[in-house]
Amino acid sequence: MTQPLEIRRLTYADLPQVIAVERRAFATPWSLAMFVLELSKPTGICLAAVREDRILGYLVCSRPDTVWHLMNVAVDPRLRRQGIADALMDRLFELADAPGERYTLEVRTSNRSAIHLYEKRGFRAAGRRRGYYHDNREDAVIMWRTAPGDGQGERPRDADSALSEGPAGRLGG
Ligand SMILES: CC(C)(COP(=O)(O)OP(=O)(O)OC[C@H]1O[C@@H](n2cnc3c(N)ncnc32)[C@H](O)[C@@H]1OP(=O)(O)O)[C@@H](O)C(=O)NCCC(=O)NCCS
Repeated sequence: MTQPLEIRRLTYADLPQVIAVERRAFATPWSLAMFVLELSKPTGICLAAVREDRILGYLVCSRPDTVWHLMNVAVDPRLRRQGIADALMDRLFELADAPGERYTLEVRTSNRSAIHLYEKRGFRAAGRRRGYYHDNREDAVIMWRTAPGDGQGERPRDADSALSEGPAGRLGG
């Protein structure tokens, strides 16, 4: 019988499997060093979707200041459309949401599945970064989500300045 999906914190021991999924998921994958750096940050949330000791997907979210930056989400290409990314996002919001908490991300304009995922989870487009992706100079859509509660649904007034000072999101997304 298939074991249930478990969402738990990502660990250094998971990284070999994470790298294998990352390379299947992106044309310009993150290096091992990038995952190690994100895991080392005390304020971030890094999650793994696991079944029978196998990593099926993962999510990396950092919080360098007052805003959460969703840096990376990926699911093994053979296991998509089964709710794994949804389950990762559910857990992120369980852990990180507080009224008015803000999240941002960048995503390729061509990445319709990811944009649908983010829109479903309450993110809204709030601008573009022209030629953001180095490999093909594709634009990034900048998206924001505000957690329900204080300020619900408002685009933060300092959205652009927070973004310009914040870290770059994933380069392969
Ligand atoms: C984007 C990605 C993480 C979605 O993972 P997933 O586990 O297949 O997604 P889920 O099954 O949880 O679907 C959640 C929602 O995402 C959206 N979605 C996912 N795949 C989609 C597709 N092919 N087309 C349209 N919408 C899609 C839908 O809104 C879906 O909700 P629904 O099933 O109620 O319609 C996955 O396609 C992936 O790993 N892509 C490559 C990596 C990537 O581009 N990551 C994002 C940039 S950092």
